[in-house]
Amino acid sequence: MSQTEQLISEAKRVLKENDLGGYTVPTKGLYPFQWNWDAGITALGWLHIDEKRAWAEFETLFKGQWENGMVPHVVFHQDSDDYFPGPDQWGVVGNPPSTSISQPPLLATMVRMIYEQSQDKDLAQAKLDALLPGLIRYHLWWYRERDPESTGLVSSYHPWESGMDNSPAWDDILERVPQATRSYQRRDLSHVDSNQRPVKAEYDRYVYLVDFFKDKKFDYQTIHDECPFHTKDVSLNSVLQRATKDLIHLNSLATEPVNLDEIIRGANKADVQIQALWDAERHQFLNKDYAENAPIPVKTSAGFMPLYGHSATPEQASIMAEEIKLWLEKGPKGLASTYPGEAVFDAKRYWRGPSWLHINWMIADGLSYYGHHDVAALLQQASRSIIEQSGYWEYFDPETGEGCGGSNFSWTAAIALHWLV
Ligand code: DGY
Repeated sequence: MSQTEQLISEAKRVLKENDLGGYTVPTKGLYPFQWNWDAGITALGWLHIDEKRAWAEFETLFKGQWENGMVPHVVFHQDSDDYFPGPDQWGVVGNPPSTSISQPPLLATMVRMIYEQSQDKDLAQAKLDALLPGLIRYHLWWYRERDPESTGLVSSYHPWESGMDNSPAWDDILERVPQATRSYQRRDLSHVDSNQRPVKAEYDRYVYLVDFFKDKKFDYQTIHDECPFHTKDVSLNSVLQRATKDLIHLNSLATEPVNLDEIIRGANKADVQIQALWDAERHQFLNKDYAENAPIPVKTSAGFMPLYGHSATPEQASIMAEEIKLWLEKGPKGLASTYPGEAVFDAKRYWRGPSWLHINWMIADGLSYYGHHDVAALLQQASRSIIEQSGYWEYFDPETGEGCGGSNFSWTAAIALHWLV
């Protein structure tokens, strides 16, 4: 077997082993449920194994969609003792139960990619028609409940919503969040080395926020006005922006297109507001602290995500392409999640340094859109080299390529199938 054949067979094994029937866990043990943005990316991997199964990943996730349109960050299809905070912690009564927050909304983009690349076009049309109403309700929820002031940028209220949980970009805002005083038992540390996971002071605040949403009865206006963690996340807004553009396109392909004026207005505003997050000195975009109404001056991979969102100008894209080359000189094993020159950089600790394959892919996709195929190829080569070296881990030390976090990881295997092999 050639190395490529081995990588393909191994990636397929990972997805099949993590398949619990209609949904794929990110990895067994550490994450025993269905996660929102993991599901979208994992579906891309299934496309290369079984198209029907790829569509099922979305259908199962949408079983957890709330009345108001939110698609939760985790849907608890069945219980498990392996994870904290599980279904009994969020105060959400539902069938299936779920968390009370969302995650970077990339689903419409993944549906578009699968629709365009699938072989069975009749199946794809039927699935697109069936999924579209839920996707539209999800996007309307973001604009309505997460931007009640119509600023053009949606808000996030928990580091887990960013998907980049312990990014140093959140450090100062998280300091303002009280620490939970109740006792609880983390489960992640029984699966992964503690020096690769968030620290206790962060977890105490993650838990405080879970309780806060429950206390506020999930009322979006109260949470908007009172939540001590409140960001305008440049990565999440870029993911939404790209997905909204793809949703508008999907609607044009639907058997019965509907009026999307409200969503189009939201997207037009967002392009202007994402522009306002550009930082000429740091050669990338910055997250925003809502309470201070100020940019968060920490260089993270999130700052390149407007490439993926198609919200950068061609000039900004060229500047970011050069900047990414500099980052790769310091951390050659994929794009570091925090710039290796930042004092807070930590090569193995989750989102404080490691390179993540799906982010490498999303940013490479954006670089190609702007014509920077050479830098996209650098990211692709770096990503391929780490899976050849280490296999399908959750994330990787950007300096050495060592695999970190959970092993046999679904989205890493999915990105390999879709982009690298
Ligand atoms: C975790 O538990 O670490 C997850 O990232 C939350 O989404």
